[in-house]
Amino acid sequence: MERARAVTPGGVNSPVRAFHAVGGTPRFIAHAQGARLTDVDGLEYVDLVGSWGPMLLGHAHPEVVAAATAAVGRGTSYGTPTRTEVELAEEIVGRTPVERVRLVSSGTEATMSAVRLARGFTGRELVVKFAGCYHGHLDALLASAGSGLATFGIPGTPGVPEAATAATIVLPYNDRAAVEKVFTERGDEIACLVTEASPGNMGVVPPEPGFNGFLAETCRRHGALFLSDEVMTGFRVSRSGQWGLDGAVEGWAPDLMTFGKVMGGGFPAAAFGGRADVMSVLSPDGPVYQAGTLSGNPVATAAGLATLRLADDSVYARLDEVSSAISGAAHEALTAAGVPHLVQHDSSMFSVFFTGRDEVVDFDGASEQDVPAYAAFFHSMLDQGVHLPPSAFECWFVSAAHTDADVQQVVDALPAAAEAAARASAS
Ligand SMILES: Cc1ncc(COP(=O)(O)O)c(C=O)c1O
Repeated sequence: MERARAVTPGGVNSPVRAFHAVGGTPRFIAHAQGARLTDVDGLEYVDLVGSWGPMLLGHAHPEVVAAATAAVGRGTSYGTPTRTEVELAEEIVGRTPVERVRLVSSGTEATMSAVRLARGFTGRELVVKFAGCYHGHLDALLASAGSGLATFGIPGTPGVPEAATAATIVLPYNDRAAVEKVFTERGDEIACLVTEASPGNMGVVPPEPGFNGFLAETCRRHGALFLSDEVMTGFRVSRSGQWGLDGAVEGWAPDLMTFGKVMGGGFPAAAFGGRADVMSVLSPDGPVYQAGTLSGNPVATAAGLATLRLADDSVYARLDEVSSAISGAAHEALTAAGVPHLVQHDSSMFSVFFTGRDEVVDFDGASEQDVPAYAAFFHSMLDQGVHLPPSAFECWFVSAAHTDADVQQVVDALPAAAEAAARASAS
């Protein structure tokens, strides 16, 4: 870590990895297989981070490794169209309501491009987002993550010119009245409303029933686009993501969607897609420019395609089993130790809030947590060989590769961790 800090800010290439929220030193991972990580000291951990979402099938799944290895052998990038890109796009179009999809390399790039497209298509500038929703680190949406919740606040972040966020409006999540008000006042200026399809970046805070449908309808009435960010939920909470759980059942579709994580099989691949008429405004068919040297990279698309093709009903059933077993045991252990907490789910995605609240519906609620209690809980689990997310505000990611023995190791570690949390909470 000292060597890392000498050459890289904070010693990490993405801030949450640094353990600042829980203290201590991050583990340097040397290799991983299934649900297990092995660090450079040879210590093994059951992984409940899953690379922050992509590892739906676990690490080094043999068929994903074979697909990626074969692709590497054919050359790693050509800068031309390839068959695999088309097959991956077909797989995404087949599972979701999007009609056309453009591949990019990260979730940030996907939402950045989708927002630009929404602005180009509508000729409007305003973007509405929700506090606590993370859409990547693009200037326009790097807003109100960690800052106090200001109902109609205009965000400001060091390094981001005021002009970049002047057209961003931040609202409290799950608050229909706030959405109605801003659309009534400024509806004809709004290019798009962007939301996590089911937020996982303030802990798991699912949409209240009908909320996404309400957003889609409100946007439609005002000629704004509804941009549903499924970078985290896509191909994880169901084979069709969060849309498979609400829009597909209720009969509506977002105008634009973004994907990432699972669809790259652990490689840098992401996508944005949507209605054919909206996507046709994109270069080279239309005037809105977007491009990428490594977009649709043959290795990343081969791994992503293999992952999605393997993600069948049995995978989703296993994710549900693992998720209920672990979240149920966490609830039992924390209850037995007298630690105030709340487990919230969206399908197999769940998080544990260290809070006395009965429910968390927005960023305000999510922000009130006993962070020292979580830090103690986290370190006890780590000492017992379970790698949780190093922050109280993240969701716990399970995989279909978690075996019964992996789950049992987590379950066995929980009571001592809950006791550690109880001691930290009392002190
Ligand atoms: C919902 C959501 N959107 C966008 C992103 C950004 O994706 P990336 O980290 O690939 O840039 C993330 C990353 O966690 C995310 O969870």
